[in-house]
Amino acid sequence: MSDRAAAGQTAVGALEIKDTRTGKIYNVPILEAGVEGDTAIRGTDLRQIKADEGEFGLLSYDPAFMNTASCKSAITFIDGEKGILRYRGYPIEQLAESATFLEVAWLLRNGELPTQPEYTQWVHGITYHTYVHESIRKFLDGFRYDAHPMSMLCSAVAALSSFYPKAKDIFDPEQRTLSIIRLLAKVPTLAAFAYRHVKGLPFVYPDNDLSYTENFLSMIARMSEPKYEANPVFGRALEVLFILHADHEQNCSTNAVRAVGSSQVDPFSAVAAGIAALFGPLHGGANEQVLRMTEEIGHAKNIPAFIGEVKSGKGRRLMGFGHRVYKSYDPRARLVKQLAHRVFEQVGMDKDLEIALELERIALSDDYFVSRKLYPNVDFYTGLIYRSMAFPNDFFTVLFAVARTAGWLAQWEEMLLDKEQKIARPRQIYIGYSERPYESKLTDKAPISKRDSIRK
Ligand code: CMC
Repeated sequence: MSDRAAAGQTAVGALEIKDTRTGKIYNVPILEAGVEGDTAIRGTDLRQIKADEGEFGLLSYDPAFMNTASCKSAITFIDGEKGILRYRGYPIEQLAESATFLEVAWLLRNGELPTQPEYTQWVHGITYHTYVHESIRKFLDGFRYDAHPMSMLCSAVAALSSFYPKAKDIFDPEQRTLSIIRLLAKVPTLAAFAYRHVKGLPFVYPDNDLSYTENFLSMIARMSEPKYEANPVFGRALEVLFILHADHEQNCSTNAVRAVGSSQVDPFSAVAAGIAALFGPLHGGANEQVLRMTEEIGHAKNIPAFIGEVKSGKGRRLMGFGHRVYKSYDPRARLVKQLAHRVFEQVGMDKDLEIALELERIALSDDYFVSRKLYPNVDFYTGLIYRSMAFPNDFFTVLFAVARTAGWLAQWEEMLLDKEQKIARPRQIYIGYSERPYESKLTDKAPISKRDSIRK
């Protein structure tokens, strides 16, 4: 049975709820909501529970969505207890070993692996949309020399929306396909342009003879050579890292893309929202923070003091550890660790690898981390690899964004085509003042320049 067919809504039982305020008993159906045995109740079924007829009905209060499924999805499956990650049913380990990133991007969107003709056309389309309008180039030139590349990427992707007004026809399948191809094609170009701007180097235009990752490396690193040849270990490492980062079900940035996209805005604007969410240090920004942390620790002898500070509960965190969903080793972290060794064989050991390995060893045996099920996540080792490939710290999250664009777009389209979805609009529990009369505290309401206090 396909994922889609199985994700029905059969009631497997009912929840009997007694409201002690009224003595009334309610039956709320328990739905078999997912193929992996997940069950759920519909949040709106609680609305029938009221103390008074005029009342709105019982809300479920769930800050940070700790126990709320916001959608049904057939794209990515995670079992956080067992450390399993699959895209469309395929284990991440197998995809990382043998697939290409663009094959995975197709899979995420379409649900099946591409046939050869489908793949050839897909790669051709993405390769031939890599150029951006010259005005976007000028737009990027306007940023300060020390701008964070994530700010540049986020703004440039949002700006692309103004170049493709037809992208607003989101219910036209052809326009959707075109927008998806454009985004997958142009995000690496914008990312590379942001890199070159910060470095003060001239922009390198895309080279359509190269593969997706080779072209990206060319736009980043090419200088005066007539033809760029990527280091094959770097090319494959980037491909694997892109596959590992391509999707991760309903994380903060994907939720942002879905929520913003649910207003039926164009996908460029929705993806820009995802990039903004990814920028934060608790999300995609963590890989940058891991290196700041290892640099701050400086030497393995300083680790116990650092761990002590983390455990003191004063707000310090071991960056690259812990995950909302994974309560065992993040399967991506295991693959990234193996990959790191392959890259280090090529370029030599990263100076902070010893610190990272020691932090991991201590954390995996220290009761503070063990009892809270805090394991290394994907961001723990990626920074070390990126640094070995000579990417600057503040570019790590940009690399994450390039890869995650594939997942955001698949999730955005799934949301649009889901008949049950509407504009995202959570409820709140109001805790402010109840009604009170307006009594101004001002003595002068004139515009600033006309105020007595300024004129005197
Ligand atoms: N270091 C030290 N303590 C931690 C850490 C950490 N990295 N993460 C969680 N804890 C503690 C936290 O203090 C809390 O302890 P207590 O119960 O005593 O108050 C307990 O573990 C539960 O933490 P939480 O904040 O309730 O967990 P969460 O699910 O809300 O947060 C997280 C998940 C990823 C934001 C968090 O683990 C964290 O801040 N990690 C560091 C940042 C990081 O590496 N982020 C990358 C995530 S993976 C890539 C991605 O998908 O974005």
